[in-house]
Amino acid sequence: MPKVAVLPGDGIGPEIVAEAVRVLRVVAPDIELTEALVGGAAYDATGHPLPPETLELCKASDAVLLGAVGGPKWDVIPDPNLRPERGALLPLRKHLGLYANLRPAICYPALAAASSLKPELLEGGLDVLVVRELTGGMYFGLPKENDGNRAVDTCVYTKDEIVRIAHVGFQAAQKRGKKLCSVDKQNVLMTSVLWRATVEEVAKEYPDVQLSHLLVDNAAMQLVRWPKQFDVIVTENLFGDILSDQAAMLTGSLGMLPSASLGTGTFGLYEPCHGSAPDIAGKGIANPLATILSVAMLLRYSFGRETEAKRIETAVEAVLGAGLRTPDIAQSGEATVGTIAMADAVLAQL
Ligand code: NAD
Ligand code: IPM
Ligand code: MN
Repeated sequence: MPKVAVLPGDGIGPEIVAEAVRVLRVVAPDIELTEALVGGAAYDATGHPLPPETLELCKASDAVLLGAVGGPKWDVIPDPNLRPERGALLPLRKHLGLYANLRPAICYPALAAASSLKPELLEGGLDVLVVRELTGGMYFGLPKENDGNRAVDTCVYTKDEIVRIAHVGFQAAQKRGKKLCSVDKQNVLMTSVLWRATVEEVAKEYPDVQLSHLLVDNAAMQLVRWPKQFDVIVTENLFGDILSDQAAMLTGSLGMLPSASLGTGTFGLYEPCHGSAPDIAGKGIANPLATILSVAMLLRYSFGRETEAKRIETAVEAVLGAGLRTPDIAQSGEATVGTIAMADAVLAQL
């Protein structure tokens, strides 16, 4: 029996995951779902944000569906390694070997008005895929320390790490618009010098893909100047984190962006790109679509179930077309629905 570990986490995590689970149960009733604690919720219950039994459950599953972790309550934990982000989310990604993070920024035509860009820049929709390296760079490099007077983070990349993520970028581009933009800061960072040279080398294996390079500051600007110039963007961990939140806003809301974190096999971790949204947690107004769309990615990438994945995506598009809006994607004057009603509408479409 296929197995999925469900980790709701903190803040709006449990609210949106509950709705995504309802969708998953309808579309793929044969998948066995097992819930476990992660993040601040796990810290409060067990003293650690990633209890060993949660990690074991993930390893024994075919995929993981995660909500979000963290929040002000746990920002004050003195040991940074016990905070939800550094103590749970990053180790999960690292232990599970999930080096490739796919973040598709798709602006559904019905949401063009919700984007912070002029509608004419998004005419006909927008479809940019950010491929973010997820287990290297500044997030994991050592030393990492802070003595109160001097703090250090270290950015490290090996050639192998760059080669494998470059392949993911090129192969994604091959299946789409055949354009790959690699983003770095090679005018300053040694890791970026290696990054660019390595991507150039890997490019020889993909003559059908048109490769370009941008420095990250320019890339950030180009994303809001003319987003349609991009097809696939491949970049290192920290740049990918920042650029994907920015790309999310082109689609109308951070609450619309799903993600898949993949390694070498079919195992994957699926989560919305956004966080625990403490400012709206408990209010029943969080947009569940990023998490519901993450379920579609789970079915596609870990189970090869393209039909079911498409069913979910089509249902989401229909619901948006019918005018349903959570507050984050509503224009002033538009009626809004809450988290549960939005998911109800998706289920009704299914
Ligand atoms: P955030 O993504 O949680 O929220 C940013 C803004 O977007 C907020 O105004 C929030 O209300 C809004 N937003 C996010 N998701 C939404 C949704 N589904 N529907 C409607 N609005 C939504 O980022 P933040 O506030 O910087 O971080 C809050 C906490 O979440 C921090 O502790 C951070 O470390 C954590 N975080 C966790 C993850 C993760 O678990 N993968 C990702 C990002 C941030
Ligand atoms: C994300 C988040 C995480 C990241 C944080 C919570 C560690 O922002 O998944 O985008 O930076 O990777
Ligand atoms: Mn982020």
